[in-house]
Amino acid sequence: MLGANTINEINNPARLPEYDYRDTIEAAERVNWRIEDIIGGDKRLDFTKRFMPESLARVEQLTFLNDEEKRVLNQIKGNTYLNIFVIVEEFIVPFVLDHVRPSLNDDDYRVRAFLQFVGEEVKHIQLFKIFAEEFRANFVSECKIIGPAADIGKAILGHEPLSVALAILMIEWMTLGHYIDSVKDDGDMDPLFKSMLKNHWLEESQHAKLDTRMVESLGEGMTEAAIERALDGFLDIGGFLDTGLRQQTLFDLEAFELATGRTLKDDEREVFISTQHQANRWTYIGSGMVNPKFLMCLEQLSPTQKDRIEAIAPTFC
Ligand SMILES: [Fe+2]
Ligand SMILES: [Fe+2]
Repeated sequence: MLGANTINEINNPARLPEYDYRDTIEAAERVNWRIEDIIGGDKRLDFTKRFMPESLARVEQLTFLNDEEKRVLNQIKGNTYLNIFVIVEEFIVPFVLDHVRPSLNDDDYRVRAFLQFVGEEVKHIQLFKIFAEEFRANFVSECKIIGPAADIGKAILGHEPLSVALAILMIEWMTLGHYIDSVKDDGDMDPLFKSMLKNHWLEESQHAKLDTRMVESLGEGMTEAAIERALDGFLDIGGFLDTGLRQQTLFDLEAFELATGRTLKDDEREVFISTQHQANRWTYIGSGMVNPKFLMCLEQLSPTQKDRIEAIAPTFC
């Protein structure tokens, strides 16, 4: 039997369905997992394997590195991925709590769906931290990470709610895209890292729908000018993240040289920084900006602003 959402999708192929809070709770309960089932005991990272899919890590473009050096860099980027997600999910938690706090008596399903979302996000933060600790304990050198996370979160949360909600929406659809487009069919990755990304995707699938509802309710009744201002804020957040990603690229270079004992020549450093910064842009911004579901949600908010984002997206791809 076709569900209401499916029928809605068939009747309005260009529009997102109205996601149902009760459905997301049921889906969340079906896929719910425990951290202990994913990592710990004999479930360890295999450092003979790559951790990230190549389409996100883009280490093959660095033709002056040998295979082992490419693997080491790929693993450093796996660690970066864990830590960037800790940073991101740490500002999502208070934002979603603030969003639901003023309307606790309106709709029990809505409240439960958002609290489930928050609980899962806190669990994800814990999961990423445990993976990062496993990495730190077994990797040859120190890998620096941008931060502190609290300062990054504070700067982002200083923007108006719709700007932040759009950034979160982009991140959630982006996470789903990472698993479906890059990780799912990659047979070369460390199985533990892959299973972590799969389990994250399973729960993020509900978050993306709830974020869509959040953006829809924040945008309701807003004038075109107000939406434009919210998109200005969204782009400011993107620019802020991009500055951090460039700094992270320099940290990853430092970690790579420490881990491999190889000092890159000036021209190699230049190629490393430009291609790796672009890889980070694609991973953490671009792959979200071009996500069809994200763009559909933007289109419903304002076709003009959707065109604006589409025109900017190639910079981050
Ligand atoms: Fe998450
Ligand atoms: Fe999430």
